[in-house]
Amino acid sequence: MAEKYYKYVIVGGGVAGGYAAREFANLGLEPGELAIISKEAVAPYERPALSKAYLFPEGAARLPGFHVCVGSGGERLLPEWYTEKGIDLILDTEVVKADVASKTLTTTSGSVYKYGTAIVATGSTFIKLSDFGVPGADAHGIHYLREIKEADALIEAIKTKKEGVAVVVGGGYIGLELAAVLVLNKLKVTMVYPEPWCMPRLFTTDIASFYEGYYQAKGVTIVKGTVASGFETDEHGHVKVVKLKDGRELPADIVVVGVGARPVLAPFKGQLVEEKGGFKVDSFFKTNVPDVYAVGDVATFPLKLYGDIRRVEHVDHSRKSAIQAVQAIKAAEAGNTIPEYDYLPFFYSRSFDLSWQFYGDNVGDDVVFGRDNSTPKPKFGSYWIKDGKIVGAFLEGGSPEENKAIAKVAREQPAAPSKETLLAEGLDFALKN
Ligand code: FDA
Ligand code: NAD
Repeated sequence: MAEKYYKYVIVGGGVAGGYAAREFANLGLEPGELAIISKEAVAPYERPALSKAYLFPEGAARLPGFHVCVGSGGERLLPEWYTEKGIDLILDTEVVKADVASKTLTTTSGSVYKYGTAIVATGSTFIKLSDFGVPGADAHGIHYLREIKEADALIEAIKTKKEGVAVVVGGGYIGLELAAVLVLNKLKVTMVYPEPWCMPRLFTTDIASFYEGYYQAKGVTIVKGTVASGFETDEHGHVKVVKLKDGRELPADIVVVGVGARPVLAPFKGQLVEEKGGFKVDSFFKTNVPDVYAVGDVATFPLKLYGDIRRVEHVDHSRKSAIQAVQAIKAAEAGNTIPEYDYLPFFYSRSFDLSWQFYGDNVGDDVVFGRDNSTPKPKFGSYWIKDGKIVGAFLEGGSPEENKAIAKVAREQPAAPSKETLLAEGLDFALKN
């Protein structure tokens, strides 16, 4: 089969892939210079919609409504946009082999693409319970969520099992967001997770207890401190019971599993230096191999603010890292340089009518303020203090201005007043800063 050459190839057409394409177009691109090769059958879209509005029982989000770059307030890049720009969108196509020495990519169908510069934007995939050898974990009715095809399968299951019973395995992002949308779809939901409180990688016990209480008030049953150890099926191989390690058994029509993600390194594995589970890059998202960049979930990058190197699995970073890489590529071609990536971690989630934002680093001592359950619209937050400075800030129910204020605090890291003062001032501390 003939080889096709592109000056730039983006491997992976997810969030980072879409934002990288827009940046190439912004900075000047000749028709035929850029291709995106994506395993997915649709043009890049804002993945966060899949666990939220895409699953709403009414007024659900559908493509083309949430193609990138609407998630950050930009124009939607419809499939026609790529055609107009002369960008080849090679969809439904997986790169199964990459050879960085000959700069070639081979796809499932055996097509070979040569590149001048490659951007690895393959994202993450879900960890499966079958990876841990949990018996019965491949039964029908056990759902995972990463791509639109999985969201569509879940929608079908919700339709078939109307007002049935759902078990959500995992108490992280997917667990909390999916439990909420399943309740909205009138399923009876039980969440199961091993930790003593939900979202332990970010929440403190105080923060988690608010969300757990809120979810319970919405009818969610929470089972903590245990894991799914097996599944029983009916005569059609459809899940019927979730068996827990503590001996309990939960009936289930639908199971949704969110027990973490792992970056997709496969086609480049062994050819690029890895660190902390991802491909190690510099502040311009260059890997150790010339002309190969890695962005989004797969990149382990220098987090300048903390003098550390990290991998971040969130959408804000996937967008910004893609933009940084393309700017660096174009600057290098012109013999210029750009400033180093100086990222302030930003994570958020929305469920029911709740919405929180977090900026910075959740290390050190935490001070939770404003936890007043009597208010109809909850608004509370937390600061994290390390070495006498505020390094992280969390806010539930903040307005855009208030969220901006906590972001500023996390970025500027002001000296922390006493815990008593911080507790008394709460959000005002950020607003007056
Ligand atoms: P992303 O996963 O978006 O894209 C990777 C693409 O590469 C996919 O299209 C994949 O098919 C393709 N691919 C993989 N291997 C390939 C190969 N070999 N050949 C060709 N194509 C290949 N974050 C946040 O901050 N707030 C939020 O609310 C949410 N919500 C959310 C919901 C759900 C359901 C998920 C799964 C994730 C989130 N996230 C999030 C996380 C966020 O979406 C995630 O960090 C970004 O999508 C990462 O962007 P990437 O482009 O790196 O990967
Ligand atoms: P996660 O890491 O947020 O949470 C995984 C949860 O599963 C943890 O609570 C963990 O302890 C628990 N767990 C682990 N093993 C278990 C087991 N055997 N049984 C039960 N529970 C178990 O991962 P996730 O929620 O699966 O999310 C997947 C990816 O999607 C991540 O990259 C995440 O960042 C991303 N995502 C982000 C958002 C957001 O930022 N709002 C929303 C959805 C998804």
